[in-house]
Amino acid sequence: MKKLYVKTYGCQMNAYDSAKMADLLAPLGYAASDRPEGADMVILNTCHIREKAAEKVYSELGRLKALKAQKAQGGGRMLLAVAGCVAQAEGEEILARAPVVDMVVGPQSYHRLPEMIARSAREAGRALETDFPALEKFDSLMPPASSGISAFLTVQEGCDKFCTFCVVPYTRGSEQSRPPEDILREARQLADKGAREIVLLGQNVNAYEAGGWSLAKLCDAIAAIEGILRIRYTTSHPRDMAQDLIAAHGSNPKLMPYLHLPVQSGSDAVLEAMNRQHGGDDYRRLIERIRDARPDIALTSDFIVGFPGESDADFDATLRLVRDIGYATAFSFKYSKRPGTPASTMRKQIPEDVKAARLDVLQKLLLKQQYDFDDSQIGKTVPVLFEKTARDHGQIMGRTPYLQPVHVHAGAALIGQVAEVKIAKRTANSLHGELAKQGVPA
Ligand code: SAH
Ligand code: SF4
Ligand code: F3S
Repeated sequence: MKKLYVKTYGCQMNAYDSAKMADLLAPLGYAASDRPEGADMVILNTCHIREKAAEKVYSELGRLKALKAQKAQGGGRMLLAVAGCVAQAEGEEILARAPVVDMVVGPQSYHRLPEMIARSAREAGRALETDFPALEKFDSLMPPASSGISAFLTVQEGCDKFCTFCVVPYTRGSEQSRPPEDILREARQLADKGAREIVLLGQNVNAYEAGGWSLAKLCDAIAAIEGILRIRYTTSHPRDMAQDLIAAHGSNPKLMPYLHLPVQSGSDAVLEAMNRQHGGDDYRRLIERIRDARPDIALTSDFIVGFPGESDADFDATLRLVRDIGYATAFSFKYSKRPGTPASTMRKQIPEDVKAARLDVLQKLLLKQQYDFDDSQIGKTVPVLFEKTARDHGQIMGRTPYLQPVHVHAGAALIGQVAEVKIAKRTANSLHGELAKQGVPA
């Protein structure tokens, strides 16, 4: 067997793609390895969303150069591929800057990897594939070789929203939805391999639309698949939060009461400059409607601080919105200038120290909300889907409907099942509790 090492950066869609690339290379004799040393093939599945994310690739390539040389000394060959969003955005530049790289493959063309590998064995040259062959990729993928208890399933890709700060419409192309029958087939295959939770993925997953199917309808059909206990979806855009999807949160009991709905900012002026196409109050009203359908829903979001032109008053509006909504958890970032995006050339870029100070204030508030939310579970009995054994001996780890990790002393036989757990305490990263009814899964 040849050894394949895949390193994944960025979002869940990259994690899904990494698994698909490994499945695709298995028939060529590549078996997954958890380290790059001695690997016959290394794939860096990269992210371009912020400057830091993109820079990591070049420093990693520096390290891999030595390993590749070692392999060559031993008479072997390490093939080095850069995949993902940096590959898409900077394909030619990578080849020019990093001679160590053998192939560059974008997120919509990685199904061509086997062919690229064959080609590189025949001729010594280097290969670049960064086309957008629409949905051809999905047709060439293999059925999942294995599955965890919680499994990602990409249903929609790309983005037509063109938020002025964001590279995704350029790296992933325009919005495309997979046909529902393909998705349902993959969901059944995952369930057969042991998946109990399906997480539907898309850059704008709630924009899903194919053959008259909406995301809500897809969730209902997946709920009917034997073995599937829970359904989640991510990431959603406030503008695509359709009424049937909101209603599904009230009517589909397998749809978890947890929604990642990024708002980015609470200031109307900033939201407008970002081209989000909604204001702060539109978002507040939307959350109200969602809470009407499912009162216990937990919300999460992404925030950007220091977008060009953001004043102290704009930033205060973000803090106000966070207090009004009350988040279970959230991601927050300093605005990062991305080449080719409209915001990168806007006047009134915000100084780094101001961004850092705002991020600190926002993150303290968000962390306090997260701890308050987690603490509100203490003393309650909640259904936990167990996913794996924990690092601490004799414990297993699972998640509440709100995605909170929970550690419990119990046997591995419960993995893959939902059991009621009485929550006793919280540590920094997890809740802890005991089975409500010893050994009797719900
Ligand atoms: N489609 C999703 C976002 C995908 S990118 C949505 O619209 O919500 C994930 C997050 O990265 C974004 O929500 C945003 O908060 C952050 N992000 C994107 N571009 C960024 C940039 N240039 N600087 C800082 N953060 C950025
Ligand atoms: Fe980027 Fe905006 Fe599209 Fe999200 S909706 S991927 S932030 S352009
Ligand atoms: Fe990053 Fe591409 Fe995902 S830029 S966040 S890996 S879509």
